[in-house]
Amino acid sequence: MRTTASYLRVIALVVIAIIGTEYFTDLPKGEYAIFEKPFAALFVFMVLIVAIAIEVTVAALHKILYLSLSEDKKEAFDKAQAKKSTYFSRQVERLMQAMTKSKKIEEEHEIELDHNYDGIRELDNRLPPWWVYSFYLTIIFAAVYLVRFHIFNDYDQEEEYLTEVAEAEVAIEEWKENAKDFVNAENVTMLEDEARLQNGEQIYVQNCVACHKVDGGGGIGPNLTDEHWILGGGIKNVFRTISEGGRSGKGMVAWKNNLSPAEMHEVASYVMTFQGTTPSDPKEPQGEIWKPENEE
Ligand code: HEC
Repeated sequence: MRTTASYLRVIALVVIAIIGTEYFTDLPKGEYAIFEKPFAALFVFMVLIVAIAIEVTVAALHKILYLSLSEDKKEAFDKAQAKKSTYFSRQVERLMQAMTKSKKIEEEHEIELDHNYDGIRELDNRLPPWWVYSFYLTIIFAAVYLVRFHIFNDYDQEEEYLTEVAEAEVAIEEWKENAKDFVNAENVTMLEDEARLQNGEQIYVQNCVACHKVDGGGGIGPNLTDEHWILGGGIKNVFRTISEGGRSGKGMVAWKNNLSPAEMHEVASYVMTFQGTTPSDPKEPQGEIWKPENEE
């Protein structure tokens, strides 16, 4: 008495559950909550189980009602049912029968064993083919696994781990490449990468030497090589000064209008490398001595 409708109802509920979880967890594009978040997968699985439980209960109820009908009513019902059943539902029915080889309730007496425990009786059902085939599959899997990993020694756990680490490192590099412009005065750190410091030097030579001199000694702008700072030292303050500019009317503009965050990061790091160097014609110190513990 299983109908196509009950399968469709279960599928629909699961699809709704999946769409719902995807909608309420906002993950970056290309990532799906049911794969990334164990809890989302668990939720969808629970929905599936509950939906199946409901359908099974309803089907059982129908069956009990059917059995309680008188013979001629049963016949009439069967006829009506046969008219209603579609080609598809008959195929599903046949498949289910082939995969479970279950006996109809009316024929169960044929396979009843003579055990009887307080009225609980035992049926000698055939092992359902779906179960038997799954079992054969595990045997095939085990054989393939054995040959591949224990005889031909394909990769072991350590190699697997190392490849994953290597992949992750590539992903980090890619992310860094894309994340260059996410830098701001809060999260900025000193760049160590030579190539990027050289970019910083170029940006400095093109934009800053007119006021700060090529060796950072200072002119219109203050000396950048000493530990005295007007607007605060340390990479975070230097980045902020370059991005937002100095006090108004002093001549230090907000470079965020001309430079990208990545470029300001590079030039700020380059400016920091002036610390402790001796310029040829240094401007006298201005501002206060910067102590790192002042930062934040
Ligand atoms: C037109 C001249 C001029 C140019 C060009 C210029 N600056 Fe400045 N800069 C100044 C002046 C003037 C100050 C001091 C601002 C103040 O006192 O508020 C300053 C301050 C600074 C400070 C803070 C110094 C401190 O003691 O706190 C940094 C860092 C700095 N500039 C970096 C740069 C960088 C990097 C560039 C190039 C991208 C640049 N400046 C371009 C004039 C200039």
